[in-house]
Amino acid sequence: MIRFEEQKNLFLISNDSLLLVLYITSTKQVECIYFGKKIKLEEALKQRKSYKDNWSTSYFDNKLHKEIDLDDGYSLEVSKCEIGAHGLCDHRPAPIIIKKADGNVETNFIYDGYKVNKGYPSYKTGPHAHDGDVETLKLFLHDELNENIKLIYNLSIDLDKDIILKNFEIINEGNESVEIKRALSMQLDLDTNEYTVHHFGGKWGNERNEFVNHVIDGEQIISSNYGRSSHEENPFFYLSKIDATQDYGEVIGFNLVYSGNFKASIFSNFNKATRVTYGINDYNFAWVLSSKETFITPQAVISYSFEGVNKMSQNFHSFIKENIITYKKENEYKSIIFNSWEGLEMNFNTERILSCIDAAKTIGSELFVLDDGWFSIREKDETGLGDWWINKDKIDLANVIDYCHEKGMKFGLWIEPEMVSPGTELLKNHPDYAIGYSRQKQSIHRHQFLLDFTRKEVVDNLYSQLIEIIDNHKIDYIKWDHNRDLKESYFPHLGPNRQGEATHRLTLGFYDLIERLTSRYPDILFEGCASGGGRYDLGALYYTPQIWCSDNATPKARRFIQYNTSIGYPLSTMGSHVNKSDEASYEVKGYLSLFGTFGYEMDPNTLNNDEINELNEVAKIYKEYHKSLFEDGVLYHLSSPHFYNLMKMEVVSKDQKLAALIMMNEREIKDFSEFIKFKGLNPNAVYSVQFEDIKIEEKGEILMSKGIDGSLFKKTFKECDALLLILKEKVK
Ligand code: GLA
Repeated sequence: MIRFEEQKNLFLISNDSLLLVLYITSTKQVECIYFGKKIKLEEALKQRKSYKDNWSTSYFDNKLHKEIDLDDGYSLEVSKCEIGAHGLCDHRPAPIIIKKADGNVETNFIYDGYKVNKGYPSYKTGPHAHDGDVETLKLFLHDELNENIKLIYNLSIDLDKDIILKNFEIINEGNESVEIKRALSMQLDLDTNEYTVHHFGGKWGNERNEFVNHVIDGEQIISSNYGRSSHEENPFFYLSKIDATQDYGEVIGFNLVYSGNFKASIFSNFNKATRVTYGINDYNFAWVLSSKETFITPQAVISYSFEGVNKMSQNFHSFIKENIITYKKENEYKSIIFNSWEGLEMNFNTERILSCIDAAKTIGSELFVLDDGWFSIREKDETGLGDWWINKDKIDLANVIDYCHEKGMKFGLWIEPEMVSPGTELLKNHPDYAIGYSRQKQSIHRHQFLLDFTRKEVVDNLYSQLIEIIDNHKIDYIKWDHNRDLKESYFPHLGPNRQGEATHRLTLGFYDLIERLTSRYPDILFEGCASGGGRYDLGALYYTPQIWCSDNATPKARRFIQYNTSIGYPLSTMGSHVNKSDEASYEVKGYLSLFGTFGYEMDPNTLNNDEINELNEVAKIYKEYHKSLFEDGVLYHLSSPHFYNLMKMEVVSKDQKLAALIMMNEREIKDFSEFIKFKGLNPNAVYSVQFEDIKIEEKGEILMSKGIDGSLFKKTFKECDALLLILKEKVK
């Protein structure tokens, strides 16, 4: 609920568990008095700090020629606020900086009025949150240094889940252009710096390692300047109070509905408070805001929990499923995918693919995906990208698709629309379509260039090529890849004054193309990919409800990658396939893959009967439980592979009638004797759990407190082994 108490100049923003109190000060700044677990307003107001005695809380009025003391004790320098000033008394990082026509970069937003709307702000294009029982407070402000620069600060609260969204709309109502030098999406000031910061970075094939450190004295930056959200750092991160655990204490998670360069700053000074600002990275960024134009920043998402990390994750999971993903069949059963890449790479012809479809069917596959190598002269990484025509000498695509459909399987295709290879027709006709073409030393990665998606004609070209293929074939699924990052910074086409707009415009170009294609083909399931998980973010998930988690599908690595990815994102978004790695059995790889979208990635013709049987057993579990448990269930992280040899995760169905718990080790465990404790069960229900010949029945209460003796099920875990327990409520 959002209420304005006019007498006191207070905004009260709350749901059943959260409270946020904003105060409009005597100088019309937006102060944040309280943010946290819901408490009585009187208690929240007691928390307000007046800085009257020890910080500057006055100003000199040049008209009256005297010093004016602010009787409400607000200090621009240290008070907690929602939009810090830049270059003017406040020395902390500000979310927005605007350079006016006279060169002045001082920026200070002053409150003018407000409005409360139902729902999230709705935008015509680009990814944004939607649906939900939500209220949005719109605060209208203007820049004290140029009253023609208006700001709308949108602050939304979900009344059902502990999610807050923030973003800004910067409007130039003047006649002169101004330059936006920084346009972040949010600021959050916290009373203390007693938090640890958890962020998730790595590199290709090794994404989303968890990095943990305390809030430092000074500024910690979590960012990407790779032109996409990147393997190197993911836009999801969280702060946890130093005494918080998985199920106890304050944890605040952050994410951004955006796929381009991002930057979060976590700043603390002598005052021992923390300021978090987050949004589009200001690295090489500047945006010319012409007269009458508006710049809308992506939405920043805050998940607040006072019940530890699990609750923060669960808030994000339901928010992403219900309020980010737009795929119209998101709530339907998802088919088991067979993807040709790891098994066949580009070495195929029609005959090989048809036999692969037959073999994939024997392991329960329901959707056959023809990955890279079907178009142009694409026989190797070096060629073909950008020339989107079917290589009929290699593959009879129409026949393959019909064959698949006759077998009762769906059909999917791989594309990589934002790239171009040297030597292609596209480049011969339009050399300037490739980023960096004007240099003598043009950067190249995986033998390819990025297309200049800041230009509409480039996006249009790709759109026409792709619809020609998709319109004429019965395609059920598309894997959208993006295999290199942005290395250059110079975009001649943008001219000398708009270079700072390039990376944001590149991201907008991606959204333009994917938006046109997903709205033209609303039944097609689009899966995202960027050499694995290089663009795993909320902007991409808006269009692609699942994303290939990592090119590293070996079980030892995936144990980390999937555990960590699922702290911020639902299991249903995580592309996870069983591959041919010999690190573990097919059963073990299958169990891990169940905690994701589930699928296969090998040459199915090389599997022996035992392996086919093992995979079919896991496929059976998928078909029976995927929807209620792995897709829609509530996820609990029990022990992290970063700290324990035995990684544990559990999912519980929403009605608490079913649960599944996976334990997966890396090093061998002999004489396993641990009691396995569950979470999230109905304490009064009796559950049965069966593993091979052992069957146990126990009350939920006992399973959660005492647990069950694990050695009854398994005494030895070989190297890279797993145990999967499925609990079912006993029908009375
Ligand atoms: C990337 C993807 C892989 C595969 C190849 C094809 O590496 O992550 O899954 O599609 O490209 O070239």
